[in-house]
Amino acid sequence: MSIFRIEGGHPLSGSVRVQGAKNSVLPILAAAFLSPEECVIHNCPHLTDVEHTLSILRHLGCRAEWEGDSVRVDASAPQNADVPDSLMGEMRSSVVFLGPILGRMGKAELSYPGGCELGPRPIDLHLAALRTLGADIQERSGRLSCEGRLKGGDITLSLPSVGATENAMLAAVTADGVTTITNAAREPEIVDLQNFLNTMGADVHGAGSSVVTVRGGKPLHGGEHTVIADRIVACTYLSAVASAGGEGEVTGVDWRQLSTVTAVLSEAGCKVESGMDSIYIRTDKRLRAVRPIRTAPYPGFPTDAQAVVMAALCKAQGATVFSENMFDSRYRHVDELTRMGADIRVEGKVAVVYGVERLFGAKVKSTDLRGGAALAVAGLGAEGETVISGLKHIDRGYAGLAEDLRALGAKIRREEEKLTENS
Ligand code: EPZ
Repeated sequence: MSIFRIEGGHPLSGSVRVQGAKNSVLPILAAAFLSPEECVIHNCPHLTDVEHTLSILRHLGCRAEWEGDSVRVDASAPQNADVPDSLMGEMRSSVVFLGPILGRMGKAELSYPGGCELGPRPIDLHLAALRTLGADIQERSGRLSCEGRLKGGDITLSLPSVGATENAMLAAVTADGVTTITNAAREPEIVDLQNFLNTMGADVHGAGSSVVTVRGGKPLHGGEHTVIADRIVACTYLSAVASAGGEGEVTGVDWRQLSTVTAVLSEAGCKVESGMDSIYIRTDKRLRAVRPIRTAPYPGFPTDAQAVVMAALCKAQGATVFSENMFDSRYRHVDELTRMGADIRVEGKVAVVYGVERLFGAKVKSTDLRGGAALAVAGLGAEGETVISGLKHIDRGYAGLAEDLRALGAKIRREEEKLTENS
């Protein structure tokens, strides 16, 4: 089993280009199933979640091959309309295949995606949206059986769910007539999906606002697209410099997509400068606590950045209040940060981080994707050595966390864990 070994306490200095966005490439690969011709998607990050998505495409009868950081998907001859349990179980976001499979094949079968490390992950909004477009969906013994010829309709989401917005867009592209999606999620990844769909001949507008309109039923063709940079990975690396001190630059990223996070880091005392497609940060003194951080749908403070920013504020002067409003169980990194000397109290969705003078390296375990990245952020700002296990969670969303942090000057390397290590 692999581990990260980090030698903390050294200020960082360096520059790193940010990988393609995981939460953009996954729905875009699902969208490629809609095309009767080959699609090419550039700037794809080498993630285990992407590999799982390619496995689903291949199960469906597509050719899906890497070419460097690009993926070629040929869905000209689909063979299946189901996602097997073995592939669903690995990644709940596979539910985003429901819309494209149903839209392309007229039917779809997949197992009910379970909860995950963040708590229950319901899909009632996804199903309600597809039913509005005419889908007949039966839920029995953990499986979803869907069929129907989709027709455009007016969908209203009771909350701006990212996945439900994506599923609705993907289904609506094949539905005859006009579909409106009201209270749609506004994340940049939704805009990226719209842009890809339109390169395939779809007619989607309004992404990034709360109302997305799809004129469905148009003939689709092959598309080519370059995935946007991963704003959460960028937040992770900025938080690493905030935690360890020193300076660093992340490139290839649109600063406007993470301005709620850079505003917090600036308030904490970091010097942050945004360029056309880069962000520079310098931390040369002890950080100070900031006003309450409340996670919210985009453009609010992103839930995915909560853990890494919390890690950066563990040594800040004063107390910072976090309110995690998006998921029920997204503080699992707190216990591990506490083992490193952090002083954090959790009460339901609220966590209070009482700043301490120092953190100390420890053996810690990653429990989920962003929580794992937070341990690396904390380890860089801790004295001594931190060893992180459970890297399978981190590998879902970071193509090269150790390499990228080394490019910023961090002393981190990936090793195979010696059996005695864990004893
Ligand atoms: C996406 O998850 C992202 N994943 C998450 O990133 C991100 O944290 C989340 O959006 C932010 O909202 C991908 O894009 C692959 P939601 P998603 O539907 O679509 C509730 C990461 O770290 N809800 O917007 O699953 C849900 O329980 C991951 O990269 C319903 O109640 O999130 C949650 O409380 C983690 N019913 C809230 O809405 C539904 O039908 C937001 O969920 C759907 C969602």
